[in-house]
Amino acid sequence: MSIGKDYWAWVDPGTVPRVVTETVPGPKSQEYNQRGMRHMIGYSSQVTLCPVVFDKGHGVTLTDVDGNLYLDFSSGIYVTTLGHCHPKVSEAVAHWAKRLMNCHDFNTPVKVALLEKLAEIQPWDLTGMQLYDSGTTAVEAGLRVCRAATGKYEFISCYMDFHGKTGHAVSCGRMNTTNGMGRAQGFYMVPRPYPYRPMFTKADGEIDTDAYLNFYDEFIANATTGNVAAFVLEPVQGWAGSVFPPEDFFPKLRRFCDDRGILLMADEVLTSMARTGKYFCMEHWDTRPDVVTLGKGFGNGFPVTAMLVSEKYKDSINKISASTSYGGNPMACAAALASIEVIEEEGLNEHAQRLGQYFLKRMEAMKQAHPIIGDVRGKGCLLGIELVKDRTTKEPFVEAGKAVYQRAFSKGLAWVPAGHILRMSPPVVMSEELAAKGMDIIEESVAEVEREMGY
Ligand SMILES: Cc1ncc(COP(=O)(O)O)c(C=O)c1O
Repeated sequence: MSIGKDYWAWVDPGTVPRVVTETVPGPKSQEYNQRGMRHMIGYSSQVTLCPVVFDKGHGVTLTDVDGNLYLDFSSGIYVTTLGHCHPKVSEAVAHWAKRLMNCHDFNTPVKVALLEKLAEIQPWDLTGMQLYDSGTTAVEAGLRVCRAATGKYEFISCYMDFHGKTGHAVSCGRMNTTNGMGRAQGFYMVPRPYPYRPMFTKADGEIDTDAYLNFYDEFIANATTGNVAAFVLEPVQGWAGSVFPPEDFFPKLRRFCDDRGILLMADEVLTSMARTGKYFCMEHWDTRPDVVTLGKGFGNGFPVTAMLVSEKYKDSINKISASTSYGGNPMACAAALASIEVIEEEGLNEHAQRLGQYFLKRMEAMKQAHPIIGDVRGKGCLLGIELVKDRTTKEPFVEAGKAVYQRAFSKGLAWVPAGHILRMSPPVVMSEELAAKGMDIIEESVAEVEREMGY
């Protein structure tokens, strides 16, 4: 499908973005923020660096309370993959909001339809399922299932991973002072192949995936009790700055896990449901996980998440008291089911792949033209641009990252900051013209900041 004038989310590229206030945030945003921030504490840097106040969203655009119209390159935070307020999703939620909001974990027709649809689109044998209301709770449930299935209790995840903000999910992620006292017992981290910043390389300088796996063996022998239940990984590290693994990493890790009786849990909260042009990102590497978590784009904005477990281990879900108050409520199931149907009916996996090819080509050209761009990467609509002070030392250019984020935002691009890495996750319902427009704003902002910083 190509997104043209008849498409619900189509918008004349000549009209977007449109900044009408002298400053961004404008006066009304500032006033609301003063009031909101008196009470609500703990905003993300996405907000604190550009504290606008949004009023409505339609497709690939957002409007703030001052009437500024933004092009959305963030999908909230990788959430509204199908654009804001897709009519099919909104109507499905509204229908159940008026008919039946919650009945604990009893089955409902819409829940059964969702479970069957999920079973149909997953390409492996992930037939055991539970539904949750946040990515973090799905991750926590996944960890408990891995323990129940194996009788083992240790977990290995990777440097720079992010899996959520509660006790054990936090223990699978990068540790810092905001995470409390430290990692829970039995949780470990290992380096993961990062092609731009490899830790282990072959003689020719290429990243050496086998050396990482050899290290994992050494690590397990020395740092753990040998009771590793699972490797827990993001297929692409989103929070870390859209860090993609080398192509051979997941197939090799799968074999590594199989040979050692370790499960592979793929946290697809951020990467699934068309974000990278596939329902499941692990499909890119033809690698079957034992446990998968889904979130964010799964309900396109409605809080609905899932944990999927392979046939072989699905009875373990019975051992963890898996149900919750809100998991699988009719509105949530309707949102997720409608979202999958939209991806299917509108060919959005294929469209995301096409957009991804455009984005990559464009980012490669930007890298040629701008010395502060050290690396560019992406699949579908999951993209990253890494800014460095010097291409030889690869020193992260954090000041430039922040400045480019703010500059582009003030030109009408709503997106996501990550230190020196520019992160982009546009809705996959974007036309190529608007994709180009977003890239123009980013390139213009990089060029201005680069000039001002003396490059
Ligand atoms: C890979 C991954 N896992 C888990 C989570 C946690 O999801 P939530 O914020 O819905 O709890 C996130 C959120 O950013 C994520 O990116």
